Amino acid sequence: MLKKDKIRLLDNKRLKKNILNQVVKNPILENVNSLLRMEQLYEAGIKEIRTKLEILDSEFKVKYDHNPIHHIESRLKKPESIIKKAIDKDVTLTEKEIMRHIHDIAGIRVICNYIDDVYVVAQLLINQDDIKLIKIKDYIQNPKDNGYRSLHLVLEVPIFLAEGVQPIHVEVQLRTIAMDFWASLEHKLKYKTDNNVPEDIKKELIQCAMSISELDYKMQSIHNRLNNDSEIQ
Ligand code: GTP
Ligand code: MG
Repeated sequence: MLKKDKIRLLDNKRLKKNILNQVVKNPILENVNSLLRMEQLYEAGIKEIRTKLEILDSEFKVKYDHNPIHHIESRLKKPESIIKKAIDKDVTLTEKEIMRHIHDIAGIRVICNYIDDVYVVAQLLINQDDIKLIKIKDYIQNPKDNGYRSLHLVLEVPIFLAEGVQPIHVEVQLRTIAMDFWASLEHKLKYKTDNNVPEDIKKELIQCAMSISELDYKMQSIHNRLNNDSEIQ
C-alpha cells in the first residue's frame, strides 16, 4: 500500500471514531427512528387530549348552552429544543430518560372564557379514568411575581400502539382569554428584550395583570348572575 493511501485510511478511521464518540455521548442521535417514534407518540398524545377537550366542550354546549373553551392551541417541541432542555436539566440523552424527565414535549394550551371554566375543564380531564395527574401548578391561586396567571397540568395519557400501551406526558396550560392576552404580550417582550424587560415595563405589566384578574372575576360574576336569572325565569 502506498504511504498516501495509508494516511487516507488512517484519516478515515479517525473520522469514523470521532463520529462514533459523538454518537456515544449523544445516544439519541444514534437513532433517527427514535426521534420519529417519539414525534408520532407525542402527536398521538396531543390528539387524545384535544379530542377529550372537544368532547367536554360540546357536552357543555348541549347541557348548559355554554362553551367553556374558547379555543385550543397545541405544539410539539422541536428535537433541537428537546435536546437543549435535556442537556440543561442534566438528563441523559436517551429516549427513555427524555420521556421520563421532559414533560412538555407535547404541549396543549386551553383558552377558556371564564375562570370557573378553567377549573371545571381541568377537573373533568383529571377525573377521566385513563388520565393520571403527574404535576399541577396553580399560578391563578398563586400568581408568579411577574403577574403570570395560568393553571398548569402535566398529565399521563396511554397511547395504544400495535406493540402495546405506551404512557406519555402532556403539558396542559389552561387560562382565560384575558390571561392569555397578558401572557402573549409578556412572552413577546421577554423574547424581544432577551429576557431583560425594562423595570418600568415590568411594573406596568404587574399592574395590567392585576387589572386583568379583577376583570376576570367581574366577568365571572356577571356571567353567574345572568345564568342564575335565566334559571329563575
Ligand atoms: P419549564 O419552564 O418548561 O422548564 O418547566 P417548569 O415546570 O419550571 O415550568 P412552568 O410550569 O412554570 O412553566 C411552563 C411553561 O409555562 C413555560 O414554558 C411557558 O410556556 C409558560 N410560562 C411559565 N411562566 C411564564 C411567564 O412568566 N410568562 C409567560 N408568558 N409564560 C410562562
Ligand atoms: Mg416549556
